[in-house]
Amino acid sequence: MQLESQRLLIREFTDEDYGAVHSYASDPAVTEYMLWGPNTGEQTADYIRTVQEWQWQEPRTSFEFAVVLKDSGQLIGGCGLYVSEPRQGEIGYCFNSLYWKQGYASEAGEALLHFGFGELGLHRIFATCRPANTGSAKVMQKLGMTCEGLLREHRRKGETWHSSLVYAILEDEYRILQ
Ligand SMILES: CC(C)(COP(=O)(O)OP(=O)(O)OC[C@H]1O[C@@H](n2cnc3c(N)ncnc32)[C@H](O)[C@@H]1OP(=O)(O)O)[C@@H](O)C(=O)NCCC(=O)NCCS
Repeated sequence: MQLESQRLLIREFTDEDYGAVHSYASDPAVTEYMLWGPNTGEQTADYIRTVQEWQWQEPRTSFEFAVVLKDSGQLIGGCGLYVSEPRQGEIGYCFNSLYWKQGYASEAGEALLHFGFGELGLHRIFATCRPANTGSAKVMQKLGMTCEGLLREHRRKGETWHSSLVYAILEDEYRILQ
Protein backbone atom coordinates (compact mmCIF):
# COMPACT_ATOMS: atom_id res chain seq x y z
CA MET A 1 0.00 0.00 0.00
CA GLN A 2 1.06 3.62 -0.34
CA LEU A 3 0.09 7.15 0.60
CA GLU A 4 0.71 10.25 -1.43
CA SER A 5 1.05 13.95 -0.73
CA GLN A 6 2.03 16.87 -2.90
CA ARG A 7 5.78 16.12 -2.96
CA LEU A 8 5.99 12.70 -1.33
CA LEU A 9 5.34 9.09 -2.06
CA ILE A 10 4.96 7.20 1.23
CA ARG A 11 5.34 3.55 0.39
CA GLU A 12 6.28 0.12 1.76
CA PHE A 13 9.98 -0.61 2.35
CA THR A 14 11.83 -2.97 0.02
CA ASP A 15 15.22 -4.73 0.30
CA GLU A 16 16.69 -2.15 -2.11
CA ASP A 17 16.10 0.62 0.45
CA TYR A 18 18.91 -0.60 2.74
CA GLY A 19 21.57 1.94 1.64
CA ALA A 20 19.33 5.01 1.86
CA VAL A 21 17.95 3.91 5.24
CA HIS A 22 21.35 3.11 6.70
CA SER A 23 22.72 6.51 5.70
CA TYR A 24 20.33 8.22 8.14
CA ALA A 25 19.86 5.40 10.67
CA SER A 26 23.63 5.31 11.29
CA ASP A 27 23.89 9.10 11.73
CA PRO A 28 24.24 10.10 15.43
CA ALA A 29 22.68 13.51 14.70
CA VAL A 30 19.54 11.79 13.40
CA THR A 31 19.24 9.28 16.24
CA GLU A 32 20.10 11.70 19.06
CA TYR A 33 16.53 11.71 20.39
CA MET A 34 15.54 8.18 19.33
CA LEU A 35 15.52 5.10 21.56
CA TRP A 36 17.52 3.24 18.89
CA GLY A 37 20.70 3.97 17.02
CA PRO A 38 23.05 4.97 15.68
CA ASN A 39 22.52 1.65 13.88
CA THR A 40 25.06 -0.93 12.84
CA GLY A 41 24.52 -2.36 9.37
CA GLU A 42 22.99 -5.45 10.91
CA GLN A 43 20.51 -3.39 12.96
CA THR A 44 19.36 -1.54 9.84
CA ALA A 45 18.94 -4.84 7.97
CA ASP A 46 16.90 -6.18 10.93
CA TYR A 47 14.72 -3.08 10.91
CA ILE A 48 13.96 -3.44 7.19
CA ARG A 49 13.19 -7.14 7.65
CA THR A 50 10.88 -6.45 10.59
CA VAL A 51 8.89 -3.69 8.94
CA GLN A 52 8.52 -5.79 5.79
CA GLU A 53 7.03 -8.58 7.93
CA TRP A 54 4.46 -6.09 9.25
CA GLN A 55 3.14 -5.79 5.67
CA TRP A 56 1.65 -9.29 6.14
CA GLN A 57 -0.16 -8.65 9.44
CA GLU A 58 -3.85 -9.51 9.31
CA PRO A 59 -5.42 -7.24 10.42
CA ARG A 60 -2.53 -4.85 10.03
CA THR A 61 -1.75 -2.70 13.07
CA SER A 62 1.83 -1.56 12.39
CA PHE A 63 2.55 0.58 9.36
CA GLU A 64 6.12 1.72 8.73
CA PHE A 65 6.70 3.49 5.43
CA ALA A 66 9.59 4.78 3.36
CA VAL A 67 9.25 8.47 2.50
CA VAL A 68 10.38 9.12 -1.07
CA LEU A 69 10.58 12.34 -3.09
CA LYS A 70 8.19 12.03 -6.00
CA ASP A 71 10.33 14.01 -8.41
CA SER A 72 13.64 12.16 -7.91
CA GLY A 73 12.68 8.85 -6.29
CA GLN A 74 15.15 9.63 -3.46
CA LEU A 75 14.33 7.95 -0.14
CA ILE A 76 14.62 10.71 2.48
CA GLY A 77 13.29 9.06 5.63
CA GLY A 78 10.70 6.87 7.26
CA CYS A 79 7.42 7.37 9.05
CA GLY A 80 4.93 5.10 10.76
CA LEU A 81 1.54 4.63 12.36
CA TYR A 82 0.91 2.02 15.04
CA VAL A 83 -2.67 1.12 15.96
CA SER A 84 -3.88 0.00 19.36
CA GLU A 85 -7.37 -0.53 20.76
CA PRO A 86 -9.74 1.25 21.13
CA ARG A 87 -9.18 3.13 17.82
CA GLN A 88 -5.95 4.80 18.98
CA GLY A 89 -2.87 5.36 16.86
CA GLU A 90 0.68 6.56 17.42
CA ILE A 91 2.70 8.23 14.69
CA GLY A 92 6.45 8.69 14.30
CA TYR A 93 8.94 9.93 11.72
CA CYS A 94 12.66 10.13 11.06
CA PHE A 95 14.43 11.90 8.21
CA ASN A 96 17.90 12.13 6.70
CA SER A 97 19.39 15.40 7.98
CA LEU A 98 20.05 16.56 4.39
CA TYR A 99 16.29 17.02 4.09
CA TRP A 100 15.43 18.66 7.42
CA LYS A 101 13.52 21.96 7.65
CA GLN A 102 11.91 21.67 4.23
CA GLY A 103 8.45 20.75 5.48
CA TYR A 104 8.76 17.04 4.68
CA ALA A 105 7.99 15.71 8.19
CA SER A 106 4.90 17.93 8.42
CA GLU A 107 3.77 16.77 4.97
CA ALA A 108 4.31 13.08 5.81
CA GLY A 109 2.62 13.55 9.22
CA GLU A 110 -0.43 15.10 7.55
CA ALA A 111 -0.64 12.09 5.20
CA LEU A 112 -0.49 9.74 8.22
CA LEU A 113 -3.30 11.62 9.99
CA HIS A 114 -5.41 11.50 6.82
CA PHE A 115 -4.84 7.76 6.60
CA GLY A 116 -5.44 7.15 10.32
CA PHE A 117 -8.63 9.17 10.69
CA GLY A 118 -9.87 8.26 7.20
CA GLU A 119 -9.15 4.70 6.11
CA LEU A 120 -8.44 3.31 9.59
CA GLY A 121 -11.28 5.15 11.35
CA LEU A 122 -9.18 6.07 14.38
CA HIS A 123 -10.53 8.27 17.16
CA ARG A 124 -7.25 9.59 18.63
CA ILE A 125 -3.73 9.83 17.24
CA PHE A 126 -0.79 10.68 19.47
CA ALA A 127 2.95 11.08 19.22
CA THR A 128 5.74 11.59 21.71
CA CYS A 129 9.07 13.39 21.64
CA ARG A 130 11.87 14.20 24.01
CA PRO A 131 11.39 17.63 25.56
CA ALA A 132 14.59 18.87 23.88
CA ASN A 133 13.48 17.71 20.41
CA THR A 134 12.17 21.11 19.33
CA GLY A 135 11.88 20.12 15.67
CA SER A 136 9.64 17.16 16.41
CA ALA A 137 7.45 19.16 18.81
CA LYS A 138 7.02 21.83 16.11
CA VAL A 139 5.94 19.21 13.58
CA MET A 140 3.25 17.97 15.99
CA GLN A 141 2.06 21.51 16.67
CA LYS A 142 1.86 22.17 12.92
CA LEU A 143 -0.26 19.04 12.56
CA GLY A 144 -2.79 20.53 15.00
CA MET A 145 -1.86 18.24 17.87
CA THR A 146 -2.22 19.41 21.48
CA CYS A 147 0.45 18.88 24.11
CA GLU A 148 -1.18 16.74 26.80
CA GLY A 149 1.71 16.58 29.21
CA LEU A 150 5.03 15.10 30.16
CA LEU A 151 5.70 11.43 30.82
CA ARG A 152 8.52 11.55 33.33
CA GLU A 153 11.47 9.18 32.84
CA HIS A 154 9.29 6.42 31.35
CA ARG A 155 11.85 5.22 28.80
CA ARG A 156 15.37 3.92 29.15
CA LYS A 157 18.22 4.02 26.61
CA GLY A 158 21.38 2.43 27.89
CA GLU A 159 21.84 3.66 31.45
CA THR A 160 19.77 6.81 31.05
CA TRP A 161 16.09 7.46 31.77
CA HIS A 162 14.21 9.71 29.34
CA SER A 163 11.04 11.76 29.57
CA SER A 164 8.61 12.45 26.72
CA LEU A 165 6.09 15.11 25.80
CA VAL A 166 2.81 13.62 24.58
CA TYR A 167 0.93 15.33 21.77
CA ALA A 168 -2.45 14.16 20.44
CA ILE A 169 -5.29 15.05 18.14
CA LEU A 170 -8.87 13.72 18.19
CA GLU A 171 -10.88 12.89 15.09
CA ASP A 172 -13.32 15.81 15.48
CA GLU A 173 -10.44 18.26 15.98
CA TYR A 174 -8.83 16.90 12.81
CA ARG A 175 -12.09 17.28 10.81
CA ILE A 176 -12.38 20.94 11.87
CA LEU A 177 -8.88 21.63 10.52
CA GLN A 178 -9.67 20.18 7.08
C1 LIG B 1 12.25 16.14 13.88
C2 LIG B 1 12.24 15.98 12.36
C3 LIG B 1 11.38 14.80 11.97
C4 LIG B 1 11.68 17.27 11.73
O1 LIG B 1 11.61 17.05 10.34
P1 LIG B 1 11.55 18.24 9.30
O2 LIG B 1 11.25 17.66 7.96
O3 LIG B 1 12.77 19.09 9.44
O4 LIG B 1 10.30 19.08 9.83
P2 LIG B 1 9.53 20.21 9.03
O5 LIG B 1 10.41 20.74 7.93
O6 LIG B 1 8.18 19.71 8.65
O7 LIG B 1 9.44 21.34 10.14
C5 LIG B 1 8.27 21.72 10.84
C6 LIG B 1 8.62 22.99 11.62
O8 LIG B 1 9.61 22.70 12.59
C7 LIG B 1 10.75 23.51 12.41
N1 LIG B 1 11.91 22.72 12.77
C8 LIG B 1 12.34 21.56 12.19
N2 LIG B 1 13.46 21.14 12.81
C9 LIG B 1 13.74 22.05 13.76
C10 LIG B 1 14.76 22.16 14.75
N3 LIG B 1 15.74 21.25 14.85
N4 LIG B 1 14.73 23.21 15.59
C11 LIG B 1 13.74 24.15 15.52
N5 LIG B 1 12.74 24.09 14.60
C12 LIG B 1 12.75 23.06 13.75
C13 LIG B 1 10.71 23.89 10.95
O9 LIG B 1 11.44 25.05 10.69
C14 LIG B 1 9.22 24.08 10.74
O10 LIG B 1 8.79 25.30 11.29
P3 LIG B 1 8.09 26.42 10.38
O11 LIG B 1 6.96 25.76 9.68
O12 LIG B 1 7.70 27.46 11.35
O13 LIG B 1 9.15 26.85 9.41
C15 LIG B 1 13.70 15.79 11.82
O14 LIG B 1 14.52 16.77 12.38
C16 LIG B 1 14.26 14.41 12.15
O15 LIG B 1 14.06 13.46 11.39
N6 LIG B 1 14.99 14.32 13.29
C17 LIG B 1 15.61 13.05 13.71
C18 LIG B 1 14.60 12.00 14.10
C19 LIG B 1 13.61 12.50 15.12
O16 LIG B 1 13.95 13.19 16.07
N7 LIG B 1 12.35 12.10 14.91
C20 LIG B 1 11.27 12.45 15.81
C21 LIG B 1 11.27 11.55 16.97
S1 LIG B 1 10.07 12.06 18.18
